Amino acid sequence: MLRVENISKTFFAGTVNEKQALRDVSLTLNDGDFCTVIGSNGAGKSTLLNAVAGVFPIDSGRICIDQRDVTGMPEHRRAAFIGRVFQDPMRGTAAGMMIEENLAMASRRGRVPGFSWSAKKGETKHFRELVAQLGLGLEDRMTAHVGLLSGGQRQAITLLMATLVRPELLLLDEHTAALDPKTAEKVLEITNRIVTEQKLTTLMITHNMRDALRFGNRLVMMHNGRPIVDVSGEEKARLKPVDLLKLFEEAGDGALSDKMLLG
Ligand SMILES: Nc1ncnc2c1ncn2[C@@H]1O[C@H](COP(=O)(O)OP(=O)(O)O)[C@@H](O)[C@H]1O
Ligand SMILES: [Mg+2]
Repeated sequence: MLRVENISKTFFAGTVNEKQALRDVSLTLNDGDFCTVIGSNGAGKSTLLNAVAGVFPIDSGRICIDQRDVTGMPEHRRAAFIGRVFQDPMRGTAAGMMIEENLAMASRRGRVPGFSWSAKKGETKHFRELVAQLGLGLEDRMTAHVGLLSGGQRQAITLLMATLVRPELLLLDEHTAALDPKTAEKVLEITNRIVTEQKLTTLMITHNMRDALRFGNRLVMMHNGRPIVDVSGEEKARLKPVDLLKLFEEAGDGALSDKMLLG
């Protein structure tokens, strides 16, 4: 469970560049909630995820993950139970290491560092099976360096790494935005399978309205630093693109960007 209580974040406070990115945001995700987050550029979506991940301290409010107050906890300690995938395919994996080694590294998440990143015997088989489930044919390239893979293949491996040790929370920040449409679709399918099969509590930012609607059991729309729409269950399932457009319209100027319409 994720509980965000009244959090605010202002960048460059007290300067001409002051920017209030989060305004008194409260949001609770129940266990297994798969929540898509949509909103125009600068709405505060990434700032919300970064605040939860502990990238920077927040100005006020409280963040709890599974009963644990993490508000003052440094990022590297939260990483023990938060899985993350970013937009940039280069970011989540170590290019100079083999697929197998990357997975071995991810499997040691939250444990004492310093031990070998090479896969142990039993693990190799398990990793191979997991990679085979991606359906990308990478199971025959377990000893290939990740740097040789395409962006989509790397995102799929990053997703495996982020979920190999079950995260209490999975944060996806437009993780398919840099991929071509066909590859993006494949990675979204993989995401949806992993998240729903493992019932992972997940926040998935997307600028694509169709994706925000068709994935997950919950949808949050952000505008001007706060969630302005939060629908779930049946209500979300019934929501159509025209309804979402209407909600954007009601939110006012700048809530909807061209990117979302074209996406
Ligand atoms: N690290 C940062 N330093 C300064 N300003 C930031 C930083 N991160 C985000 N912002 C600003 O906060 C606002 C919200 O940004 P962001 O959360 O990235 O929006 P979104 O992800 O919804 O497009 C923007 O005005 C952005 O420029
Ligand atoms: Mg963003």
